[in-house]
Amino acid sequence: MKHDVKDLALADKGELRIEWARQNMPVLMAIQKRFEKEKPLKGVRISACLHVTTETANLMLVLQAGGAEAQLCASNPLSTQDDVAAALVKNHNIPTFAIKGENNDTYYQHILDCLSPGPQLTMDDGADTVSVLHSKKKELLKDVIGGTEETTTGIIRLRSMAAEGVLAYPIIAVNDANTKHMFDNRYGTGQSTIDGIIRATNVLLAGQKVVVSGYGWCGKGVAQRAKGLGAHVIVTEVDPLPALEAVMDGFEVMSMEEAAKIGNIFVTVTGNKGVLAKRHFEAMKSGAIVCNSGHFNVEIDIPALEAMTNSRRMIREFVEEYNTKDGRKIYLLADGRLVNLSAAEGHPAMVMDMSFANQALAAEFVKNNAKKLQKQVYAVPPEIDREIARLKLETMGVKIDHLSKEQEHYLSSWQEGT
Ligand SMILES: NC(=O)c1ccc[n+]([C@@H]2O[C@H](COP(=O)([O-])OP(=O)(O)OC[C@H]3O[C@@H](n4cnc5c(N)ncnc54)[C@H](O)[C@@H]3O)[C@@H](O)[C@H]2O)c1
Repeated sequence: MKHDVKDLALADKGELRIEWARQNMPVLMAIQKRFEKEKPLKGVRISACLHVTTETANLMLVLQAGGAEAQLCASNPLSTQDDVAAALVKNHNIPTFAIKGENNDTYYQHILDCLSPGPQLTMDDGADTVSVLHSKKKELLKDVIGGTEETTTGIIRLRSMAAEGVLAYPIIAVNDANTKHMFDNRYGTGQSTIDGIIRATNVLLAGQKVVVSGYGWCGKGVAQRAKGLGAHVIVTEVDPLPALEAVMDGFEVMSMEEAAKIGNIFVTVTGNKGVLAKRHFEAMKSGAIVCNSGHFNVEIDIPALEAMTNSRRMIREFVEEYNTKDGRKIYLLADGRLVNLSAAEGHPAMVMDMSFANQALAAEFVKNNAKKLQKQVYAVPPEIDREIARLKLETMGVKIDHLSKEQEHYLSSWQEGT
């Protein structure tokens, strides 16, 4: 079996960590049980390009249980957990191509390796597989019946492909499911981004001025969690609506020009590029820590920072000290890549349970409905979203009320008033 992982001897450690995550993924496990019996993905070749974490490993096992022939590569050069990659290859016969810290060439070679059997279904986190298929590997497009996409940034890319009429197959926007972004982006990114900053630096957040750029689903989570640890949180935005929301949620909102002068820790989570630029680095205090939790490492203009720098060195793992020509020190975490997946372990399993339940059910949906779907980006069907929420509550032992017949009628009629 073809594979490229760091060291197969790490498999035992990875296996235990996969098992640990599984204990917090009851919804996905319920789907696995059904997939084992029904084999809804029998013989379907799946190329998955996802962060190679313990949670993803459990998703891969569910796809395999459903009968799929699934392969995996990384969706980011720094997010791979090498022990997990080893366990997938050695213990589960899942061809995996991912090594933490791989360079860009290897990263793209791994995507090609993962595509080599000619997939019928793709699973992406950031749309790199789709983009390789539509550029370098067009000959493989004929077999692809559909795909899924995990994150906001990927969906933006796919929607623009669909609008230009170049998307060659239907894709389900897993990120847009309520049971994905309301929980994964907010609580998952919120907690794990702070976790990444703390693991990388061991800073005390209490009393620090933490600047969160972007108050979308992820930004809300990061801001909330930083506040919970006693930080003084400043939000920067470009859209008046989330900016107003941040004001009313009790955060200080200002331009990055202003925030750059006073912040101690900066977190970008916008999905946009050049959010922290030369003029901001010029204004920052010595000792400022900058990091990113948005999908690509373009949110921080690293070349601009490099151009202002005399020398740099790794002062701790994932912490690079930039010594500026005017004598200040700026600390860049994890090379500007997703700090939560590079310096920590990504989202906790409890929240990935719902995201990956969406992935598994979306894959089944694509398989069953491919002929009816256009070359467009589709929402996860609302009944899947609702069912995942119901199952999650059930596994948490939470009971909710149900509408009575009278209430159902009241909510669907217009005749009753005061
Ligand atoms: N770290 C992770 O594990 C993780 C998890 C989920 C999503 N993501 C990624 O995080 C990014 C944000 O995702 P989201 O779901 O919060 O998106 P979102 O669309 O809900 O929010 C993004 C926000 O950033 C704002 N923004 C855009 N440009 C800006 C700028 N220059 N300055 C300030 N604000 C700006 C937008 O107005 C918007 O409110 C995406 O790249 C997404 O793919 C990362």
